[in-house]
Amino acid sequence: MTVGSDPLLQVRDLDVEYGSGRGILAPSRRAVRVLSGFNLTVGRGETLGIVGESGCGKSTLAHAIARFVPACGGEILFEGRDVLGFDKSAMRAYREAMQLVFQNPMSSLNPHMKVRSIVAEPLSTHTGLDRASRMARVRTLLQETGLPETFMDRHPHELSGGQAQRVVLARALALNPKLLLLDEPTSALDVSVQAQILNLLMRLQADHALTYVVISHSLAVVEHISDRIAVLYLGEVVEEGTRASVFREPRHPYTQALFAATPVPDPSRRKKRASLSGTVPSPADPPPGCRFHTRCPHAMARCRREKPAPHQVAEGHWAACHLLDDDQQTGRTAP
Ligand SMILES: Nc1ncnc2c1ncn2[C@@H]1O[C@H](COP(=O)(O)OP(=O)(O)OP(=O)(O)O)[C@@H](O)[C@H]1O
Ligand code: SF4
Ligand SMILES: [Mg+2]
Repeated sequence: MTVGSDPLLQVRDLDVEYGSGRGILAPSRRAVRVLSGFNLTVGRGETLGIVGESGCGKSTLAHAIARFVPACGGEILFEGRDVLGFDKSAMRAYREAMQLVFQNPMSSLNPHMKVRSIVAEPLSTHTGLDRASRMARVRTLLQETGLPETFMDRHPHELSGGQAQRVVLARALALNPKLLLLDEPTSALDVSVQAQILNLLMRLQADHALTYVVISHSLAVVEHISDRIAVLYLGEVVEEGTRASVFREPRHPYTQALFAATPVPDPSRRKKRASLSGTVPSPADPPPGCRFHTRCPHAMARCRREKPAPHQVAEGHWAACHLLDDDQQTGRTAP
């Protein structure tokens, strides 16, 4: 699956800042721009995996797309319509069509509510279904997400992490959404349960023609589930391409370092590459030029001054690195 000619979601030149509001307690606090000129396109029916280290802006992106945090510039288009300009009624329809699944399933479930009420909540808020119809729908949703009907009477503290994530997914599917933004859908789960949830997500996608944006710091998760992958570093996409192309031949030194830092079981894919040292710089003071230059083993003087442009390196695969400028001139291949 590729973006093709049918994009469901387009993010164009998106800027998101935190702390731009003035407050009595922090009157002189400087706004921190976490996403700057951010671009992304998600095709209908595809899964886009977004990977990057902690603090690089993955959740901020999801929250901005869902309009839980405001954008201070740029556009978000859903089915070609301007999300940032939506009025109350268009926003209500958007909230049905787009569901955000938060990073920790337990924290997004009300501990005082039973599973039946948790899953039925969006039906009560957004539909005119009577109680019997809502309960019938809850039963169907629990069945689809692999939970027995008896779980309707449980509270969140009576669920395992995997069961809680299934309840979250049942609730997210209640209004027949088109797009699911899944923020670290398996990071709070035991390894043994992670694959079950990823396989469930893939089955639900096929059954309901869903489009996914899957955010994860785990390369294994995005490799398992994604059609395309975007690699995020300090609020910017540095490499994007089909799963096969990015995993076979990562071209950005950051992607290569991320891969090197992750154990790969297949010996044919093990390559000797510089691993990732240091931490992501603060978005309050991003390095000039290439934002990765403070950690890049190939950094040159130019990298400290000039922002690299994206270069196509294979069909549907690009990376932004000055080494690729040089390759284009000399015919060399990147490291
Ligand atoms: N509400 C907020 N107010 C101020 N700064 C914030 C807020 N939320 C996030 N940030 C900052 O924005 C940056 C990006 O955070 P974000 O949560 O988007 O990262 P992430 O990639 O999702 O990280 P993780 O993998 O740890 O979940 C970080 O520097 C973080 O400290
Ligand atoms: S532009 Fe320079 S610093 Fe940035 S990734 Fe490429 S070589 Fe490294
Ligand atoms: Mg996050």
